[in-house]
Amino acid sequence: MRKKLIAGNWKMHHTVAGCLGYLDKFLPAISSSTDVDILLAPSYTALYPVGQKLAGHRVKLCAQNLYFKDSGAFTGEISVAMLKECACEAVIVGHSERRHVFGETDELIQEKVNAGVTGGLQVIFCIGETGAEREAGQTSEVIHRQLEQGLSGISNDMCDQLTIAYEPVWAIGTGVNATPEQAEEVHSDIRQWMGSRFGEPVAGATRIIYGGSVKPGNSAELLSKVEIDGLLVGSASLDPDSFCAIIQNLQ
Ligand code: PGA
Repeated sequence: MRKKLIAGNWKMHHTVAGCLGYLDKFLPAISSSTDVDILLAPSYTALYPVGQKLAGHRVKLCAQNLYFKDSGAFTGEISVAMLKECACEAVIVGHSERRHVFGETDELIQEKVNAGVTGGLQVIFCIGETGAEREAGQTSEVIHRQLEQGLSGISNDMCDQLTIAYEPVWAIGTGVNATPEQAEEVHSDIRQWMGSRFGEPVAGATRIIYGGSVKPGNSAELLSKVEIDGLLVGSASLDPDSFCAIIQNLQ
């Protein structure tokens, strides 16, 4: 049985003060929701103070990105060791905005997945097709390419540090979510691919979560699908009440 995972990606929102105020409201509100793993991904500047506040708490800290080198002349970048020093236990890699706004390629993303996993972080590896690719019937092909390239350096024994996030680009921040049936179809496809690449036990144990316009009003239906092991939530995680409602919908 795969434990559900709900992750909040705050993107470039919330200052340090905003994050700490959020936690004052959020942490007591979710205290009864114990049967779920929860991750919060604040901006880089808030990682350290949020990590301090989460110390000993079951809500875990997640970074939104990393760079794959250990150190060096890489202005503006951040290493796995720096993230771990802030108490990060997880990192998002290959988010659609990294791919489409910042031009990250499958090759770069593969280096980042490797660095995160070998550095001991849980990696939330994001994949998803654009609207044009879906309309052209290329969803499966695109997903397979992203999996093939992104996970090319990963061996079976590393897969327990891996979560796959299916995030259709057309659903991110648009208010139009994939229907539970559309998401389940792609999740099944991903699990089959995982099975052929890593074997059935790994495929059966790997969490595949959905992201893209998740809200309190659609989260329960999405989570009712057996192939949907959790949610990666952007906009609706920015408000503690709405993120808390999504977590409580799971109960
Ligand atoms: P959204 O973002 O929930 O605002 O659509 C999801 C994401 O980018 O992970």
